[in-house]
Amino acid sequence: MKQQTWTNYIIVALLTTQLFIGYLGIPLMSGSRFSVDCKPDIIIVGENEGGKPPVVVESDESVARRETLKRDLDKGLFILVNKQNPVDSSYKPDDLTAIKYFAPDRPPEGRVMRAEAAEAFNRLSEVAAKEGYEIIVTTAYRSYEFQTTLYNNYVKRNGQQKADTFSAQPGKSEHQTGLAADVSSPSVGYQLTEDYIHTPEGKWLNDNAYKFGFIIRFPKGKDSITGYMYEPWHIRYVGKTAAKEIFNEGFTLEEYLEKEI
Ligand code: DAL
Ligand code: ZN
Repeated sequence: MKQQTWTNYIIVALLTTQLFIGYLGIPLMSGSRFSVDCKPDIIIVGENEGGKPPVVVESDESVARRETLKRDLDKGLFILVNKQNPVDSSYKPDDLTAIKYFAPDRPPEGRVMRAEAAEAFNRLSEVAAKEGYEIIVTTAYRSYEFQTTLYNNYVKRNGQQKADTFSAQPGKSEHQTGLAADVSSPSVGYQLTEDYIHTPEGKWLNDNAYKFGFIIRFPKGKDSITGYMYEPWHIRYVGKTAAKEIFNEGFTLEEYLEKEI
């Protein structure tokens, strides 16, 4: 009798600890690379047969989410390229695919993205058009050489200190991953300007991009994390699951990867 009471105390203590750890977002699944909200929905307490520990069951939804994020990770959708994480000068995605909707007066080289991102952008642009908003790509993929020319021109025009607040040095631009795109619209004369957020198209993009798997990569007031000023025109493909979570939580990609992946 006394022995059973102590066993019950131990089970309750174990359960409480598991729940607490779960709600802190610490991985409960051994070997998991994700701490992504691994909160168990159902807890089953073992019958204490043979002193077995309690069984933690993860919800189907949580499992599906982790599997999707794992697939997206394996597809390279979470590649982080920023001031601290450069990409090799020779890096070029092998599935660059033409985008259907682009500004005709910009270099043709920039009218491609990785296949899944290109398809997602085409859908975004088509849905936006149906709702009355024209959103097109100015440049998406940029080679190392393209970024070198662009960055050097900005340095000549603005000086390096200023250029570094809005233009990535060669090898440090995620445009080279084929997952990023600069977009614009008639309301701002197809220019890249902070005023874009005050236009109907820019607002639509800000509110809806996540539905197609894109995030606004350089949000307002997050310069200290992303390394760049606000760019309401620069979208980055991360897949629908991550994009929705980043949108809902107001994270930068840096914060999301640190916290969830
Ligand atoms: N404008 C962004 C930071 C780039 O050059 O990649
Ligand atoms: Zn950009």
